[in-house]
Formats: sequence, structure tokens, C-alpha cells
Amino acid sequence: MFDGGDEVRYVAERAAQTFLHENALNTAAFPSLGAIQSELCAWTADLLHGPEGTAGFVTSGGTESILCAVEAARERAHVERGVHEPEIVLATSAHAAFHKAAHLFGLRPRVVDVTVDWTPDLDAMADAVNDQTALVVASAPQYPQGVVDPVEDIAQMAVDVGASCHVDACMGAFVLPFAAMEEPDMWAAPPWDLAVEGVTSISADIHKLGYAPKGVSVLLHRSKALRRYQTFDFDGWLGGRYVTPNLQGTRSGLPMAAAWAVVRFLGTDGYRQLVRRTISAADQIRTGVRAVDGLTVPSGCRHHLLSITADPCTDHPLDPFSVGDAMAARGWHHDRQGPPDGLHLTVSAGNAPVVKRWLSDLAEAVDDVRSSSGTGTAPVNPATVAYSTLE
Ligand SMILES: Cc1ncc(COP(=O)(O)O)c(C=O)c1O
Repeated sequence: MFDGGDEVRYVAERAAQTFLHENALNTAAFPSLGAIQSELCAWTADLLHGPEGTAGFVTSGGTESILCAVEAARERAHVERGVHEPEIVLATSAHAAFHKAAHLFGLRPRVVDVTVDWTPDLDAMADAVNDQTALVVASAPQYPQGVVDPVEDIAQMAVDVGASCHVDACMGAFVLPFAAMEEPDMWAAPPWDLAVEGVTSISADIHKLGYAPKGVSVLLHRSKALRRYQTFDFDGWLGGRYVTPNLQGTRSGLPMAAAWAVVRFLGTDGYRQLVRRTISAADQIRTGVRAVDGLTVPSGCRHHLLSITADPCTDHPLDPFSVGDAMAARGWHHDRQGPPDGLHLTVSAGNAPVVKRWLSDLAEAVDDVRSSSGTGTAPVNPATVAYSTLE
């Protein structure tokens, strides 16, 4: 998963070791971590077309960035518009972390369906947006099918009522910009980042396609004033003034230092190479899967995320979970998702060398499934396995 190669791992490990004992809660005591955080945010803001004044913080991952963005939007709606029953408008394709945030911070989710191309139903979204809307959500791309939402349309709906618009680019922030540089005609997506006027915040996970070790994401706000809604500032404690930028108190300096080192090491050229390798691998996979009678990859995904589903246009659709079981028997792990039932693939550069072997195992797995005509028994949702350990 997210393997940028030996050199990238080495750089990350050296930086991690150096910062193993530092605490990012207090950047006055550990000023280098303050500088690291600022540089990571500035670099990401530049990449995502943040206007002058764009400001951010580093969080522990996509979920925490999303939690903070939702909380900030709720605060903003309350302070600026007197919203007392805040709502969040999102599609069924938006990451589950938005529901976690709504649950934790007391927002009502207004969920709309996706259309045949897996993007949010814009009419339904427009109907759901109202004067209690605190946040409207877009994804670039959404996780299940890897499709980039029409961010301009969605952001405009937020602008119309004075609400915030968050773009979840946790998966896309370190792919889409470099993809557009590499192959503007084939891989560029319509405007989706802070270049879109109504976008107020955006999340970008360096611990995914940024190839840093786990525990680091950047949450950017269009201005310092908007970022202020994310900050917790309490001055009524005997221990003194307590200010935190995210949900944590004491936090390890390790992930942000490792991320800083990786970003500096790779730079634009390094990421461009990794992105080309990644999307070329994903293209090979898409082509190979679509050539299998009974399976397909839903259309619309052009980058690194994709799902494998039964092909509805054939007389012999295959059960993707059975194929998943047969692939698991060959040592391949795929998360399962649905509806519709599907196997999920997040392709990254480290997968490129094994695509040929994966496709050949897929052919064998399909033969196995055809000859046994079984139905997959594994859980539908990847979280199910983890969940059983939490009950
Ligand atoms: C689009 C998207 N947003 C948010 C997240 C949550 O990120 P994390 O698992 O780092 O909390 C993910 C995770 O896969 C994702 O794909």
C-alpha cells in the first residue's frame, strides 16, 4: 500500500527516527515542528491553487481532517448565520467519515443519491440545501468508484446559501495535480480544488498517495478567518491558555517530519513520475478486467481508484465476491464494497510491478469461480472485519 520505493522509505524512516520524541502540541518548545507544519501546508496550498491567505493545519489523517472541517463549518454557520440546527449535504459516495463527524458534532446529514455516472444527483442536492445547511460536500475523487464530483456546481450551491463547501481530496490531492501536468488531455479533471471560488476547505492526505508513513493529512481553509473556526482556544484553565488546531492534544512529531522529508525528497518531478506509473498501472487493470467476460469496471474513473463489479451487459455475470475469495486464495487482498457488490482497488506506484501477475491470477480465479459457480461469502464491507474486533 502506498509504497513509493526504497529511497522514499529510507528518507521517511530517517526523518521519523530523528523526530520520534518530539511533541507537536507545543511548537514554541519544538519550533522545527512549527516550521515543518507551515511548510507542508504552504506546499500543499500552492499545489491546490490556494489563493493568498490560504491557511491550514496538519492532522493525523483523512478522518481527522474531515472531522475538523465539519466542526469548523458548523461553527461558522452558527457564528455568521445563526444556524442552530446545522445540516450537512452529501452524496452516498462521500466518505463515511462525514457521517462520523455529523454524529459527533450534532449535524443532520441530508444524503442524496448518485446518478448513473456515480456523481451526486445535483437536482437532489440543490433541493437538500437550505438555510440550515452548514456544509456541502464534494469528493475529488470519491472512494468507491474513483470518480471526481462536479465541484464547481456543488460549491455554487453552498455559495447560494452562505454555507461552507469542503472538497474531500484525501485520495486525489497528490494525484490529480500531477496527472494534469503529465497528460492534460486524458487525465486532467474539471476544476476541483481551491481554484473554485466557493470551496472553503480541502483535505489532502500525505499518508496515502503522498507516500509518507501513516498519520498525516493537511486540512486547508481558504483564509485564516475560516481556519479560526477549526481552532480550539480555551483560557479558563489553571494550567494556562490551551490552544489546539485539531482533535489531539499531545501529538507525535514523527508523521509530519517524515511527511516533510518525503515531500521534499520527491518534489513535483518525483510525484509526476509516481503518478504516471500509478495511472498507467490502473489503466492496465481496467483494460484487463473489462476483457473478462462477466466482470467490469464502472465507467468514469480515470485515475487510481476503481471498483470491479459484475458486468450487467453479459449473459454470464460473475459474483465479484467469489472472485475476491478466489484471489484471496492466491494471496491478493481486496476490500469489498457495495452496493453494488464490488471489489475495491486503490492503485499506487508500488503496485505497478505486479500488475501482470495480478491479471494472470485473475484469469485463473475467474476459471475457478466459473467451474464452482459459488457465491462469495466474505463480508460486504471492508470495515466489517475490523468492526467484529471492536464489539
Ligand atoms: C476519499 C477518502 N476520504 C477520506 C478517507 C479517510 O482517510 P483516513 O483513513 O486517513 O482517515 C479516505 C480513506 O480511504 C478516503 O478514501
